[in-house]
Amino acid sequence: MKKSTFYHMPSINFMGVGCLSNLGKECVARGYKKALLVTDKNLVKLGIVEKVEQILKDSDISYTVYDGIEQPNPNVADVKNGYKYISKNNVIKKNYDFVVSIGGGTNHDTARAIAALVTNGRSIEDYEGLNKLTKPILPWVAVNTNAGSGAHVTMVGIVGDDSRKTKMNFTDPKLLATITIDDPELHVTAPREVTISSGIDILAQAVEAFVALNATPYTDALALGAIKLFVNNIRNVVANGNDLDARYNMAFAGAMAGSAFNNAGLGHVHTIAHQIGGSSYRHHGLISGVLLPYVLEFNAPAIPIQKFNEMAFAMGLEGATGDNAVQIVLNAIREINAELGIPESLSEMGAKEENVDYHAKMALKDIAGMTNPRQATLEDMVQLIKTAMRVESQTKKQREPALSR
Ligand SMILES: [Fe+2]
Repeated sequence: MKKSTFYHMPSINFMGVGCLSNLGKECVARGYKKALLVTDKNLVKLGIVEKVEQILKDSDISYTVYDGIEQPNPNVADVKNGYKYISKNNVIKKNYDFVVSIGGGTNHDTARAIAALVTNGRSIEDYEGLNKLTKPILPWVAVNTNAGSGAHVTMVGIVGDDSRKTKMNFTDPKLLATITIDDPELHVTAPREVTISSGIDILAQAVEAFVALNATPYTDALALGAIKLFVNNIRNVVANGNDLDARYNMAFAGAMAGSAFNNAGLGHVHTIAHQIGGSSYRHHGLISGVLLPYVLEFNAPAIPIQKFNEMAFAMGLEGATGDNAVQIVLNAIREINAELGIPESLSEMGAKEENVDYHAKMALKDIAGMTNPRQATLEDMVQLIKTAMRVESQTKKQREPALSR
């Protein structure tokens, strides 16, 4: 007998070219009068923030822009600075009705943390873990500008904690956006390297969600759909960032992978990525991309072969109808990584051997591991991280031409 389940997602999600135009009327309909815009200086420079500002002005909504987020990863300091920006002695200076995040996962996670602190008080570290918020957050509108983390559609906040050299996870259905807006026209300014490093996180998240312990037929459909869209569009969007059809499909891939893991959970790609990213400050997606083949190989004995058959089918790989599907899917992922120029080793992501034991311990504490399909001991985790670091001597093995379709 399968256990009962439920799904969380933002209730209104605008997608597609030109959908940013819905922002004004949706905010007016809710009676919003004053916004805090949370973003970064690069998006201001690119004119994307100005597009949002113009819509708010046309809708008679006043706003303040906080553009102090440091890329590529948000940390506790970003949240504190953003909160300080709008408060004095922990009292909010002005009456903000809502928060608008403009950007990718970094800016969304910082914005939802600020929105949570405005109503719940205290500091973000107090809400680490599952369901720790006591009050609804300030309404949050997520304007997404690249395909990757899917943070705009999730209830999972991740911010770096420099003091512990890790990334802190705060997960709560209260952290869902009120409205999401995912307009591919805003994605075209993402540089090639951001398109790749954010994009590969889609594959990592979709695969982890598909094999996660809390996966259901609903999340499986989202995860497989995301894998298919990713494989069919990543080359086009990397080759030509102005390809709006490819950007559109990648936007859906990102949102679908985000929704899949939001409800199915993740696994040790993410528990380890949170440790390496928390100390090396390298891009989360890139680290996840490096880790995906290693972790999937570790998990493979605990994953039904049918799951590999289905992933191979979604990736357009032929002949993967039996047990051979494990190797075919792993090879295909390695080939995609190689094609996108994603490093093969965690060492190239700034991981240091002297930190492996600490990373392994912290990874096992990360709640993203609760749904990993294969139980990992501390020894397993140490070995897994070391394997992903010492790739030079271990993975120069024969590969099948997985992407020749
Ligand atoms: Fe991720």
